[in-house]
Amino acid sequence: MPPIGKPPDMVVHQQDPLNAESPRRVLAGAPVTPVEHFFVRNHGPVPERTQVLRVDGLVKEPLELALADLQALPRRELTVTLQCAGNRRADLMAVREIPGEAPWGPGATGTARWAGAALADVLAAAGIDPAARHVGFTGADHAEEADPPQRYEVSIPLRKALRPEVLLAWEMNGQPLSPLHGAPLRAVVPGYIGARSVKWLERIELLAEPSEGYYHAVAYRLFDMPLGEVALNSDILSASSASGRTELQGYAFAGGERRVARVEVSADGGASWTAAELLEDQGAWAWQLWRASLALDPGRYELLVRAWDSAGATQPESPATVWNPKGYANSAWGRLVVTV
Ligand code: MTE
Repeated sequence: MPPIGKPPDMVVHQQDPLNAESPRRVLAGAPVTPVEHFFVRNHGPVPERTQVLRVDGLVKEPLELALADLQALPRRELTVTLQCAGNRRADLMAVREIPGEAPWGPGATGTARWAGAALADVLAAAGIDPAARHVGFTGADHAEEADPPQRYEVSIPLRKALRPEVLLAWEMNGQPLSPLHGAPLRAVVPGYIGARSVKWLERIELLAEPSEGYYHAVAYRLFDMPLGEVALNSDILSASSASGRTELQGYAFAGGERRVARVEVSADGGASWTAAELLEDQGAWAWQLWRASLALDPGRYELLVRAWDSAGATQPESPATVWNPKGYANSAWGRLVVTV
């Protein structure tokens, strides 16, 4: 059955609620992902409608804001990569089973041009109580799979919420947000796992402690750590061979405030590496697309990619070293088996 609201070539992990990733071919070589092919990660059904945005909790003055009120604030536009914490889980599942979780490949990520208001501007209008340390986001959707069933609710640290890159967005790639991606309003938290970019945003609550919502306090935790910044990762999206050369394309994403500094590919199990060419720089919050060219004789190869970030860190070799019971944050080398 084709996914409702998405093209038939999406890789569907669940129909209802819809969970579908972009095909590698669509991501390869496209600095900005088309909205129609952008991955969807939903924990509940798309809500029929959302209320105005409420800003309350540890604020000096609670606010109720209509979209028009937000649109009267200075407009911010930013190219931001969203990446689900479960992106590339399939490679972890190949090591050991992860029951009850979707086998996402490398397509639970995408990059869009987002427009909206800075969350910091909204928080300034409400006035922040000195006891506030975290900012909770509540969506209008109700997740039956949560224990107990509840609204989608998570938080981010106040120090991140005050940074200029955190947006309340109503536009994606120059168009009003679509229902699947959070219309009319969503949070966009650059550098953090996608789970923090809450869709169908109805409430912003300033808190002294992190959110107790299921998707903050129970799900999206690595062992007992709440996930925040994305871990450095990369993957191979396409490989094509002609006249003795194999051309590779892919992405690398550093997460947090780190940048991708270098990308390398290998066709000999990591014994030797060839530097990839880094493509267009789309700013601090977007993935780094790359391409590489290898001279390969006919045969079957497992091609590898690894990135280095601006902190001098690189990716671990094997998914086995980063395997964890929920299959989050797979930062191991990307792999693609090809026959030349
Ligand atoms: N916001 C709400 N309200 N409900 C959700 O289920 N899923 C989160 C996040 N925001 C979710 C949500 C997760 S886990 C991810 S990875 C991103 O939305 C995915 O955003 P997208 O579906 O627009 O790609």
